[in-house]
Amino acid sequence: MEILHVSAECYPVAKAGGLADVVGALPKYQQSLGHTAKVVMPMHRTKFLYNNEWEVVHKGSFRMGEMYLDFTIIKEKTNKLGFDLYCVDIYGLLDRERIYSYDDDTERFTAFQIAVTEWLSKWEHHPNVVHVHDHHTALIPFMMQYCFGYRHLSRIPTVLTIHNAQYQGWMGWDKATYLPAWDTWRWGLLDWSNTVNPLACGIKCADKVNTVSPGYMEELKREANGLESLFNFESGKCTGILNGIDYSVWDPATDTYILDNFTVKDLKHGKGLNKKKLCDDLGFDMQYPLIIFIGRLVHEKAADLLAEAISKAFEQTGHAFSCMILGSGEKEVENGLQRIQNDFIGYYHSQIEYNEKLSHQMYAGADFILMPSRVEPCGLNQMYAMRYGTVPVVRRTGGLKDTVIDFGEENGYGICFDKASVEDIVYSITRAVELYKDKTKLDEIRQRMMNINNSWETSAGKYIELYDSIYK
Ligand code: GLC
Repeated sequence: MEILHVSAECYPVAKAGGLADVVGALPKYQQSLGHTAKVVMPMHRTKFLYNNEWEVVHKGSFRMGEMYLDFTIIKEKTNKLGFDLYCVDIYGLLDRERIYSYDDDTERFTAFQIAVTEWLSKWEHHPNVVHVHDHHTALIPFMMQYCFGYRHLSRIPTVLTIHNAQYQGWMGWDKATYLPAWDTWRWGLLDWSNTVNPLACGIKCADKVNTVSPGYMEELKREANGLESLFNFESGKCTGILNGIDYSVWDPATDTYILDNFTVKDLKHGKGLNKKKLCDDLGFDMQYPLIIFIGRLVHEKAADLLAEAISKAFEQTGHAFSCMILGSGEKEVENGLQRIQNDFIGYYHSQIEYNEKLSHQMYAGADFILMPSRVEPCGLNQMYAMRYGTVPVVRRTGGLKDTVIDFGEENGYGICFDKASVEDIVYSITRAVELYKDKTKLDEIRQRMMNINNSWETSAGKYIELYDSIYK
């Protein structure tokens, strides 16, 4: 089967979050199952773009509202990622450094989607499935069915994977003129609460819709930033498929970013060496448990609660742990986490940036990882952490609930709590501090986690089954 993935990001080409990790790994695993998977994404100005060789495979143009846009599809020449990678270049719109957060993101991603559909309409052999990811690509199933010029694509089945339903790509009805001539009787498919809502449109038009964990799909039926009734109405074609992690990138035995490689057999020693390196760099005392947070510093991840919770936990435990934060996001949250730095010298460090290499070193050297997320569609960090023997401390929500069992329960290995509140976080940190003192238990838990198989193999197969169910 041939699958075309359409996404705004893909690791290692361009990454803002977990979406990139999924789109960088899933196609690789689908290839290894004997299928052909391809990825098409916008051409962002990243190191990967400049460090690799490209060939032009298609040139075209289209009209978007008042604008006439030329686009070029380039293909990476050496099959570096293990699958065909295409980037869409639209002069002035897509060739930028950041992936998101420009004032004209609506124009950028609408143009990207039109270019992809336009290119696809020129293919001689079409893919068997078009698999779109999140709202930046969710208008494609609509265009393939209801834009007059693309009707010949309407027989290709489509899948929409929702990595985050908080963001829906809303745009005013005035911008509906951006779309290539479409059947206006179908306006209701574009509409949700009097705006054009690309995510809602994708849910209505794709043949199958899935979220990145079963738990998150259930939650969306109750809370989905306005789309609850739609998820209930469309529940027949909606499902949840848990993400996996890329075992070739996330493996403590071979990871080239970390100081000392280790396996489950020498984990005590290996983790110790990695922890020592981190603690030496930060001026932390090795004897205390090292608790980390890695991720976007935003409300969704409950990062706004961290500064207060960590301060309180330091007070309550008498500074019985060290803590390191890595991430960037909302300015207020960043400032709050920087502000407490002087209060806890020798115990606390916050590094405000996105740093892939450092994140690997932290997974390898830390004892616990904190994820108090208000919303977590799947969460990959807890799975990365577990593979490196680092105990996840998580709020029971979405994919975190599906992947972490509290160590108080049978065969458990994590620390779970119910509320995204300062109190629950502080309490869970005190549980982590206590658990750390019980070295036999901790060792048993680490071994259990490292032996769990969270690789993409199983889930990649589930996507194939999903495609099979709609393959016409
Ligand atoms: C988004 C979600 C995260 C998920 C990732 C990959 O970043 O917030 O929970 O793991 O997408 O699907």
